[in-house]
Amino acid sequence: MKVLLTGGAGFIGSHTVDALLARGHSVRILDNLSKPVHLKGKPDYIPNEAEFILGDVSNRCDLEQALDGVDIVFHLAAYQDYLTNFSKFFEVNSVGTALLYEIIVDRKLPIQKVVVASSQAVMGEGAYLCGNCGIVYPNIRKLSALKGKKWETNCPECAGAVESQASKEMVTNPQNQYAMSKYSQEMIAINLGRRYGIPSVAMRYSIVQGPRQSFYNAYSGAARLFCLHLYFKKPPTIYEDGRQIRDYINIMDVVAANLLVMESERADYQVFNVGGGKPYSVLELFEITALVFKSQLAPKISGEFRFGDTRHIMSDITKLTRLGWRPKYSPQKSIQDYRSWLMGQGNIDDVMDYAEKEMKRQKVICKAGGVKQTEAYYSGVSI
Ligand SMILES: NC(=O)c1ccc[n+]([C@@H]2O[C@H](COP(=O)([O-])OP(=O)(O)OC[C@H]3O[C@@H](n4cnc5c(N)ncnc54)[C@H](O)[C@@H]3O)[C@@H](O)[C@H]2O)c1
Repeated sequence: MKVLLTGGAGFIGSHTVDALLARGHSVRILDNLSKPVHLKGKPDYIPNEAEFILGDVSNRCDLEQALDGVDIVFHLAAYQDYLTNFSKFFEVNSVGTALLYEIIVDRKLPIQKVVVASSQAVMGEGAYLCGNCGIVYPNIRKLSALKGKKWETNCPECAGAVESQASKEMVTNPQNQYAMSKYSQEMIAINLGRRYGIPSVAMRYSIVQGPRQSFYNAYSGAARLFCLHLYFKKPPTIYEDGRQIRDYINIMDVVAANLLVMESERADYQVFNVGGGKPYSVLELFEITALVFKSQLAPKISGEFRFGDTRHIMSDITKLTRLGWRPKYSPQKSIQDYRSWLMGQGNIDDVMDYAEKEMKRQKVICKAGGVKQTEAYYSGVSI
């Protein structure tokens, strides 16, 4: 099979490239090597056997060239940031996906499968159980509550206490520009796919971890941040109180899921949560990282928060496990792998403060307790 991976130079894409080549597929990458992900240019992990096209998924000519002679598409390229240039998220993520289907339909291309990268962020705060109201879907927490260090969310109907639940694929409550653009990608893929007979699958990844997560991408989240801090022997900041629940998934489990849905007809026209299946608090992830690094450093928990972060989110992965997939690797393994990779990298002295400085520059990080704030909006669930 000839497989096109948009965003194939990135973290998830490059590991999927390796697995496809190992299975004997022919691989083409379409990637614009966007910054800050590729701040230092084309990564050297891109194999020579993979054909590389430097181009943009929102450019018709680039996409047409990339789709020529292709059987399968992994559409992984995305604009991911925390900035308020809202239109860019839709230009790249939504319009890029619509353009992909437009070209396939216009040119009657015999594409056998399109797999699009969605995100757990589509589910927003996810599902919570309220003792009075049953299952509810809270929206983002108010800035005033966060400034008062009131971290837990409440029932949107009766304002009572709620308990976080694992969210199934039917939960859709995107709360920010990134999540909305990802939801639109799902709808384009599943609905246009079904309408025009293009077998399509949307993968709602949780927080993916492993080697090759860009040092410069604030979106690459807690594992990268914790590892870099401990590597440089500096205490990392943990936002809020560190008791936020997340689920973390190893990159190899994601690659296995990608290959499974590529090969399985039962996956067609479906959305799947691709998560670790087990809840961890951010503090627990830090403790795992400290164990791997044999570090005694305590994190800073100083009341900083990122407005727009979800309090808890955890994906229910039952649907994908019914296809025979199950996550095999623990966050400990992900951190060990990331650490080994980190140790092998040269020229990383500049990276540790990069994402944090950027976020502070963009006024994304706020401090609880009366300091003047801007209502900058962070659009991720990456920690
Ligand atoms: N890593 C995660 O934890 C995670 C979680 C949920 C969803 N996702 C989604 O999975 C996909 C892959 O994520 P990743 O972690 O590998 O990200 P990444 O940033 O490492 O890789 C994305 C790649 O896309 C390329 N790209 C960006 N804009 C492009 C454009 N306009 N045209 C062509 N190429 C472009 C980048 O240069 C990069 O190589 C994305 O769609 C992302 O939204 C990732």
